[in-house]
Amino acid sequence: MIKLVVGGATGKLGRVVCSMATTTKDIEITGGTASNNGGNIGTEIVPGVYASSSDILKKLLDNADVYVDLTTPMAASKVVMDVPSTGTNIVVGTTSVDKRSIEIMCRNIENNKTSGVVSANFARGVNVFWKMCETMASLLKGYDIEVLEAHHHFKKDSPSGTAMEAVKRMQSVTGIDKLTFGRQGIVGSRNREIGIHSIRAGDIFGDHTTIFAGSMEMLELKHRSISREALAQGCLETVRWISGKKDGKLHTMNEVFDL
Ligand SMILES: NC(=O)c1ccc[n+]([C@@H]2O[C@H](COP(=O)([O-])OP(=O)(O)OC[C@H]3O[C@@H](n4cnc5c(N)ncnc54)[C@H](OP(=O)(O)O)[C@@H]3O)[C@@H](O)[C@H]2O)c1
Repeated sequence: MIKLVVGGATGKLGRVVCSMATTTKDIEITGGTASNNGGNIGTEIVPGVYASSSDILKKLLDNADVYVDLTTPMAASKVVMDVPSTGTNIVVGTTSVDKRSIEIMCRNIENNKTSGVVSANFARGVNVFWKMCETMASLLKGYDIEVLEAHHHFKKDSPSGTAMEAVKRMQSVTGIDKLTFGRQGIVGSRNREIGIHSIRAGDIFGDHTTIFAGSMEMLELKHRSISREALAQGCLETVRWISGKKDGKLHTMNEVFDL
């Protein structure tokens, strides 16, 4: 049985991860954290297990195999470096965690011979989408590339981290430096650039489309997220994959999904 502690167990993703874990035969939630001021400390996250403050995270990890962080950039930046010294493997799902904290965490993973994964998106389809963007950009040299992303009207940031990861990967194979975020007015003809466009409307869960356009043809690659279950599923797959490793390394989602 893999003993899992979930940081942010009372959050939107954390809750789905916890409830999905209860349907597996090999993962047991042994603890979870919530913020000190959100009113959720003491909430039952799975039968018999209650959300704790991250002030006692080290104690929760005493007996754990894996810690998955699904909190906030600020909360994660404070705790991820100290997890490897407990002997627990770590999966960081929280996005935009301070770079310095991740660097220190990596050094501690190496020194303590634990293992880790940092993932901006746990969905298998999104990881394949990124890989395909990279492959198509390298096969379609000279084609114009435009990325469109659409999300619900509550989303705070723009463009999405998923769109920017696709862009970063396509930049790495094409060498295109210039990014154009939306266009307005007399913008003139298009340069060697990647265009990025964000739509915010209704309750769209998360769509990403990359267009590759040549002079007489166009290819489109599209990923559509339907619900958080795909993320939680990928999160638990990542937990399984990392649980037995003790190699002092930070791994990638391409390794987890064998892409
Ligand atoms: N990698 C991926 O596939 C993926 C997918 C979706 C989201 N994410 C990322 O995952 C993170 C969580 O997303 P979400 O949508 O679940 O957010 P959310 O609903 O706002 O949940 C945040 C969770 O973190 C907890 N938290 C906040 N500060 C904390 C602290 N100091 N110590 C312990 N727990 C703390 C919150 O507790 P309270 O209940 O007390 O507020 C809540 O449980 C975000 O960074 C998001 O970008 C990653």
